Amino acid sequence: MTVKSIGIIGGGIIGLATGWQLVRRGHSVTIFERSRFGQEASGVAAGMLSADAELGFEEPGLYRASRESLKRWPAFVRALESDCGHSVGFGATGTLVVADDQDSEASLRRMYDFQKDEGLRVEWLRGEEARDLEPFLSPGIVSAVLAPEDQLVDNRLVLQGLQTALSASGGVLRERCNVAAIVPGEGDPIIILDDKSQIEFDQIVVASGAWSSQIKGLTTETTPRIRPVKGQILDLQAQPSFELKYVVRGPRAYLVPHKDGRIMVGATSEEMGFDKQITAGGIYSVLDGAWEIVPGIYDLPLNSLLVGLRPGSRDNLPVVGKSDLPGVYFATGHYRHGILHTALTSEEVALEISDVYDSPWFSDFRPQRF
Ligand code: GLY
Repeated sequence: MTVKSIGIIGGGIIGLATGWQLVRRGHSVTIFERSRFGQEASGVAAGMLSADAELGFEEPGLYRASRESLKRWPAFVRALESDCGHSVGFGATGTLVVADDQDSEASLRRMYDFQKDEGLRVEWLRGEEARDLEPFLSPGIVSAVLAPEDQLVDNRLVLQGLQTALSASGGVLRERCNVAAIVPGEGDPIIILDDKSQIEFDQIVVASGAWSSQIKGLTTETTPRIRPVKGQILDLQAQPSFELKYVVRGPRAYLVPHKDGRIMVGATSEEMGFDKQITAGGIYSVLDGAWEIVPGIYDLPLNSLLVGLRPGSRDNLPVVGKSDLPGVYFATGHYRHGILHTALTSEEVALEISDVYDSPWFSDFRPQRF
């Protein structure tokens, strides 16, 4: 393996994790972040690792990659915690996907049948069986699917851990450092910063989330369009008298209970361009959807309201692989699944960049498909 110098544009979870995996393989890595590391979509996400509960039969390639990433998360966490020296709040909670009327029950049943066909260990529960597991579920829940293998992680601790691990192993983290343009080139692509300084790398990785197609120097013919998909989310504080055991997903909202007592409740999905305004209607719709399935949240203290922009491609699948522009590689477009896909994407991208290797997991995600 040849040691390479790699410039990564974007300090979200995909950029940081890919950088860490590359540094672990001996490469020299610099990550450029236009604002603060991990403060955009990655830091706002709820942290659920729900390959089984969040995905369906419409997207088999995405589903298979999600399952694989879920499998790789425990090893990813072990390695990261050993490199950064602290816990990242990883745990296996399982998800309860609940239905509260005939329509939502019918769509839950379709998802369940698909999962059974795929050989997954999911379980169909009647409303009262689901309430035996999770007593805070509403009496209105008619049925549920338990996905016991789903996990969760504290994405904010992962983001901190990645920064610590990267710095400790010689990675260069450049915060509030905007990339003004790139100049592609086989073996010698260049990053130009706002102050006009130019840095040559062996390889550039675009991991800029919702901003990925806005980098000057990327041509429209070779760059898939990535759009921002706004998500408003809030976090509530669990109380000794109210602690959820499971991630709970309903037709209009999800609740993700973290080890530190925060319960993330999300999320809207809005096509509003780069608007990041938190709105009364957005927060209301999320709270109403969550209250309908877990009414006891009514009395919980509200910690904060958050908003992030998910990166969505035209078909909402990730965009991962070599660009047609020489020296430029994309790792972006993870839409609703950035945290879940981090373990797989970072490892496989690092392998593709290090060696002559064609990842079998990215065949549906290549930039050339558009
Ligand atoms: N994966 C959760 C969300 O995008 O809201």
